[in-house]
Amino acid sequence: IVAFFQPKVLAGRHVLVTAGPTFEAMDPIRGITNHSSGKMGFAIARAAREAGARVTLVAGPVHLGTPRGVDRVDVQSARQMLAATEAAAKDADIFVATAAVADWRPANHSDQKIKKDGSGQAPTLAFVENPDILLAMAQSERARSGALFCVGFAAESENLVAHAKAKRERKGIPLLVGNIGPLTFGQDDNALLLVDADGVRELPRAAKQVLARELVAEIAVRARASGR
Ligand code: CTP
Ligand code: CA
Repeated sequence: IVAFFQPKVLAGRHVLVTAGPTFEAMDPIRGITNHSSGKMGFAIARAAREAGARVTLVAGPVHLGTPRGVDRVDVQSARQMLAATEAAAKDADIFVATAAVADWRPANHSDQKIKKDGSGQAPTLAFVENPDILLAMAQSERARSGALFCVGFAAESENLVAHAKAKRERKGIPLLVGNIGPLTFGQDDNALLLVDADGVRELPRAAKQVLARELVAEIAVRARASGR
């Protein structure tokens, strides 16, 4: 009864989450992508919804059902993810970037399947850098004015604490969440490192949905403290 009457921590808020990998095509049947199950991002979207928020989930190619009550936008490439994120960020209060965005895409896209030419020579692929979605949001007018609270994730293969601290500063975001190794994909549990201006805190290993609820609570407190 008490819980029923308690206002939910994110009631009236719009939370935007990116999740999963991106896929960068080189021709109609091939491309490059990243490892990412999308589970952590989907768990965060579900937890934010449970906390009373309106939730937009921008998802790369994943094999996951949409959490109840969450508005989902499916995309493939980083550029599509950026466009969908920019659109939803117009009235979002909190942005959580969990997506494993491909840092580069093939420089050239062929409308037809690239064929072997019979010479035994493999093609050389050229790449161009993709837009940094989190950085774009963090540098947006709404984030700078305090209307949009941005949270980043970092998957590192070494020196997590140092890299996470550096990444938080480089992106200019109040909170960066590190996946505490070893780097595993598709697992149902995880351990997280929270890096903010005050320092470093660990959320010990637990099921992703449990961690997602803890993380959403941590984000809600910080967003509120910073005026959102
Ligand atoms: N990110 C993003 N768009 C990109 C690259 C990353 O939005 N093009 C976001 C991720 O969703 C994550 C954060 O930025 O929240 C950090 O991603 P990560 O790959 O760890 O960092 P990078 O800045 O890409 O640096 P690097 O991969 O070289 O470590
Ligand atoms: Ca990257």
